[in-house]
Amino acid sequence: MARKKITVVGAGNVGATAAHWLAAKELGDVVLVDIVEGMPQGKALDLAQAGPVEGYDSRMIGTNGYKETANSDIVVITSGLARKPGMSRDDLLKTNAGIVSSVTEEVVKHSPNCIIIVVSNPLDAMTQVAFKKSGFPKNRVLGMAGVLDSARMRTFIAQELNVSVEDVTAFVLGGHGDTMVPLPRYSTVAGIPITELLPKERVDAITTRTANGGAEIVSLLKTGSAYYAPSAAAVEMVECIIKDKKRILPCAVLLEGEYGINNLFVGVPCKIGANGVEEIIQINLTTEERAALHKSAGSVQELVNLLNL
Ligand code: NAI
Ligand code: 2OP
Repeated sequence: MARKKITVVGAGNVGATAAHWLAAKELGDVVLVDIVEGMPQGKALDLAQAGPVEGYDSRMIGTNGYKETANSDIVVITSGLARKPGMSRDDLLKTNAGIVSSVTEEVVKHSPNCIIIVVSNPLDAMTQVAFKKSGFPKNRVLGMAGVLDSARMRTFIAQELNVSVEDVTAFVLGGHGDTMVPLPRYSTVAGIPITELLPKERVDAITTRTANGGAEIVSLLKTGSAYYAPSAAAVEMVECIIKDKKRILPCAVLLEGEYGINNLFVGVPCKIGANGVEEIIQINLTTEERAALHKSAGSVQELVNLLNL
């Protein structure tokens, strides 16, 4: 099998850590792109030099351009700014939309057949930007948020019940923001819904902590946001595509009527394989869960409307 080529745009915390996981798992050769001169080159060289110690053969290239990214199989977009003091949410939205849009243009020019995984925030709106700009079919553009949000929920459930994270599954739907929709009924320990294992107030505490999971890390780190779990989550999606695993993962994908939502990227369970998004899985929701999903989709729509895509 020919080696796969994976480009990661944005060699900051999430991008560089993603490159680390990609190399460690030998999922392919990795090209790291950033606008900061020397930085992606330095990180790629450093990661290459960990290869002999860790025993991986992934080729690592760092660059400030896109020539080296040509014919990538998968491109992970992590470029973007974090919110700075004095910057409104809308300012951030428009700045990052500009970055994601110009990056997507270059990506598409050099890798017309790739699958794009967006990580930049605000996630659902940025995935919509990449989709619009790329002109790709909807199966080849998806956003990472649900895998991270459900990993956070799985961690909290495992800690609460003192069980292995391996036996815990969780589902989080909706946009990647404080209106996200953790689904306790579909969150299980070895197949048993947590609603049967924990009292309602503990379940509620876990869902609230999950929805605030990103903010909790920001308030601890103070100078940035989470990156180990986010990069691991993006790499899990890459792995699923490269190995054609057909796993069911919550991802931000274009909905065209599914769940009663139209023409909007929102997180829902999907089958992920070699063709990217191979199927959108529609699960039964209670009236309250559906209302919560629609409320969350409404906040994504508000952001998208501001972008006049
Ligand atoms: P970071 O600041 O460490 O890295 C961002 C990098 O993007 C910087 O190195 C910067 O130079 C680069 N960059 C900016 N403009 C660029 C351009 N036009 N082309 C190439 N590179 C460019 O930030 P971090 O922590 O890596 O986060 C990256 C993004 O991912 C942020 O928008 C963050 O909010 C988002 N994020 C999303 C998550 C999710 O669940 N979807 C989870 C964690 C972070
Ligand atoms: C997170 O959830 C900041 O979106 C990022 O950690």
